[in-house]
Amino acid sequence: MRDVISKKDQYLNDLYYFEDKHLQAISNRLKNDNKWGINIGYHEISLLQFFIQQFKVKNILEVGTLYGFSTYAMAQALPEGGVVTSLEKNKENHQAATELLSATPVETKIQLIHQDAKDYLANCQKTFDLIFIDANKSGYAGYLTKSLELLTKEGLIVGDNTFLFGHVYGEGINRTSDAAINSMQSFNKSLLANKDYQVITIPTTEGMTIIKKR
Ligand code: DHB
Ligand code: MG
Repeated sequence: MRDVISKKDQYLNDLYYFEDKHLQAISNRLKNDNKWGINIGYHEISLLQFFIQQFKVKNILEVGTLYGFSTYAMAQALPEGGVVTSLEKNKENHQAATELLSATPVETKIQLIHQDAKDYLANCQKTFDLIFIDANKSGYAGYLTKSLELLTKEGLIVGDNTFLFGHVYGEGINRTSDAAINSMQSFNKSLLANKDYQVITIPTTEGMTIIKKR
């Protein structure tokens, strides 16, 4: 989500707006700390919840917790017994998420881990039905390689910000690096010709790319 968005994106965001008191507490903290807009928007919440329920997802790995806005929304969509494991490298973000999410009714479905995703992914022994990538933009190509190894047979990978603030199509202003552009181009393109996977980019404000095994 961004502060300045098109009328079309504003329409979608308003159309899918949903906040209960717990999500509102997370939003308020993001706004107070000047981090509002780094989180996903309401339309993207609905997309994630749609995938979780239509594909009967039970185990989710989230790469990048921030304050737990998407973590909370994904946990809400999970069935009884489902779990979101969410990774956050930044200590302040991890602490804020821990505090905010422990006050919610879905806390039993959430496991927060304060660790660099690179290290977690390299040592992980579990598999996941959904891996949601929304972290360090120069890490996307690496996260994808590891995520493919941790995916269940029916699993899907969802990447946020796959337009990289416009940089992948030459319209970006600041806020990135060549490393991030190369990494995101690789994330977007590397599986397109691979017959084992189906890939689609949904043109949300920030670009959301879905990768699923055939
Ligand atoms: C930024 C990061 C995000 O994941 C996002 O969705 C929007 C903005 C950022 O770092 O500015
Ligand atoms: Mg994002």
